[in-house]
Amino acid sequence: MMMKKLFLLTLVMLLPVFAQASAGPAIQLDSMQADATDKASLQRGMQTYVNYCLGCHTAKYQRYIRAAEDLDIPEDLMTEHLIFGDQKIGEQMTSAMDPKLAAKWFGATPPDLTNEVNLRGADWVYTYLRTFYVDESRPYGVNNVVYPAVGMPNVLAELQGVQSKTCGDVAIVDLHGAAVMDSQTGEPMTEQSCEIFSIAEGTGSMTPAEFDATIYDLTNFMSYMAKPYKSDSQRIGLWAVLFCIMMTILFYFLKKEYWRDVH
Ligand code: HEC
Repeated sequence: MMMKKLFLLTLVMLLPVFAQASAGPAIQLDSMQADATDKASLQRGMQTYVNYCLGCHTAKYQRYIRAAEDLDIPEDLMTEHLIFGDQKIGEQMTSAMDPKLAAKWFGATPPDLTNEVNLRGADWVYTYLRTFYVDESRPYGVNNVVYPAVGMPNVLAELQGVQSKTCGDVAIVDLHGAAVMDSQTGEPMTEQSCEIFSIAEGTGSMTPAEFDATIYDLTNFMSYMAKPYKSDSQRIGLWAVLFCIMMTILFYFLKKEYWRDVH
């Protein structure tokens, strides 16, 4: 009886895991591993954020001064290069755009992004920012692979270049990424795909590798904003686990000691 109850309880506790596993995204996301200890990357990410995103997206749960401390940015440099307008270093990262106007222009209000990585995941954000492509049917002439019919213009096109999606033949690969050969002709086998991305030459100031690195840094910074205490919590978490292990050992011997006289 007890066993059965325990089994049911375990099952109920595992339900969210199953639910998540089955509702996986249909689109393959490119993965990125955020690194809260890479201060140089976080600094570059913040620079991109204030230059390209803050105009539309507030990060109002993030204060400049806290970022200065966490990312090792001297306060005078922060004030000089990363804070625009008449904002003070003690203030939150807000933007000057009127949300009502923005809603009229873009069909949607640009959301606050302090917590975005918690909502969507770093992989999603990393993929989203790299997969805008030309789509003349959209108001701003672009669409997005992970966010179809998105209202946001492609603000990074000057860096990445103008990306289009076309159809064509691509090589079929096996699970290990090796080309599959046609056993009759000996040629590599191909299939039709409409997911081929190409960047119009001379339209972006960065190479694809440079752009990926820039978006990595930007997503890394957004991950930091979503979990500003991550490096602290990682350190504390480790001690908490060690503490639990120690206590388990201690209590095990204590229990043995207590029960010795009973037997
Ligand atoms: C010109 C204004 C503008 C700029 C600049 C801008 N965005 Fe956006 N962004 C929008 C709008 C509008 C939406 C809402 C789109 C929608 O809901 O259709 C949006 C949506 C997003 C979303 C998805 C939010 C969600 O629903 O989960 C992310 C992530 C995002 N933007 C990131 C960025 C980043 C990072 C930058 C800087 C590189 C940036 N945006 C620059 C206007 C802008």
